Amino acid sequence: MTDTVVELDVDPFALDVLADPVPADTAVREAAPVVRLAAHGVWATGRHAEVAAVFRDWETWTSTAGTGLADIRRGEGWRPPSVLLDADPPAHTAARRVMNRVLAPRALADLADRFAVVAAEVVDDAVAAGEVDAAAALAERFPMTVLPDAVGMAPEGREHLLPYAALNFESMGPHNSLRAEAERRAGGAREYVAWQVRREALADDGIGAAIYAFADTGDITVDDAALLVRSFLSAGIDTTILALGAVVHELARRPEQWAALHADPTLARAAFEEGLRFHTPSPVIGRTATREVVVGETLVRPDEKLLMMLGAANRDPRRWDAPDVYDLHRRTAGHTAFGAGVHNCVGQVIARMEAEALLGALARRVARIEPAGESRPRLSNWLRGFASVPVRLVPA
Ligand code: HEM
Repeated sequence: MTDTVVELDVDPFALDVLADPVPADTAVREAAPVVRLAAHGVWATGRHAEVAAVFRDWETWTSTAGTGLADIRRGEGWRPPSVLLDADPPAHTAARRVMNRVLAPRALADLADRFAVVAAEVVDDAVAAGEVDAAAALAERFPMTVLPDAVGMAPEGREHLLPYAALNFESMGPHNSLRAEAERRAGGAREYVAWQVRREALADDGIGAAIYAFADTGDITVDDAALLVRSFLSAGIDTTILALGAVVHELARRPEQWAALHADPTLARAAFEEGLRFHTPSPVIGRTATREVVVGETLVRPDEKLLMMLGAANRDPRRWDAPDVYDLHRRTAGHTAFGAGVHNCVGQVIARMEAEALLGALARRVARIEPAGESRPRLSNWLRGFASVPVRLVPA
């Protein structure tokens, strides 16, 4: 059997790489269909075709060992496993069916008006200020308001949401300074989450309560309902914040594309999708082989971990023309930013609704948007985007 091992000494989690990840993504993708990352003893693929194939084959590529760097079956996990993210069918299926129901476009339709009202307020405040850090004033403020409200979270304790999300995402990576920092800053975040996911702590008309209703009908257990509510607190906020900030960063640097969006705010969705492709907010997802499997010309053995480099795949020249250009007119179908297959992002409908509300409001109210300084990347083991995006907004 063919067995070529291409080993790279590129470390995707080194701080200088996280600050400027495209060269390392390119090195992984171009070296071979699959490479061995010497620094972490795992496989990685940055090619679109291989990533798509791995996502679709959950029988060969299990999620039960966790989707981060560690094998959670060896007790290396930092929290009880997710009934969704860390499960395979058939265990995954019942939980996923519930989430599909509560997050279906029809179930969420009533949220659109509320999203539009909050988006208008957020954008009006930013326009009145003139110069803002869009990462905080737009990209963070909007989801931090509408998502917890939609889930039905209590008003108190929301300051723990971002530290909890940081703990979640940094813990997917290696034991480095970013992970230690997230641990240090976690404060009472774990206790807050344990408290907030209980039925009694949720409003009775939100998505959280809708999940618990499926425990009453026996579709899932009460414990599973709590874990499903938890997935909103960990997966649903930071990803959207970073995606929105990245779109504003790009559009501030492309006046002709801003002009197109301003002239036709229905392009908000396209601007968002291209932002997801170009600055993939969740750039790495892991799977573990359940059997011997050949990727390209390389043999991967059972229990070995493979990192799918989604950011690299979303710029694979084998799949995309001019991949290193942000272009909101591009056809972005097939980007892997929301994953694919049985685990494809169950929150993508709500993420898109948020993007259309915020970017649409911005497009209508702002004639020009200009950089007011350098954007600063967010350094994170498991997320990508900007910590700061200073912009000047010229009202329409
Ligand atoms: C731009 C924003 C978002 C991005 C880039 C994103 C990305 C992803 C990706 C790549 C996966 C696949 C994970 C895997 O295959 O192992 C995923 C799954 C998931 N996402 Fe998102 N996500 C976003 C927004 C959201 C939101 C708003 C929510 C909740 C409301 C959410 C909840 C989830 C959950 C619960 C899963 C696990 C699904 C499963 O395992 O069946 N995400 N997301």
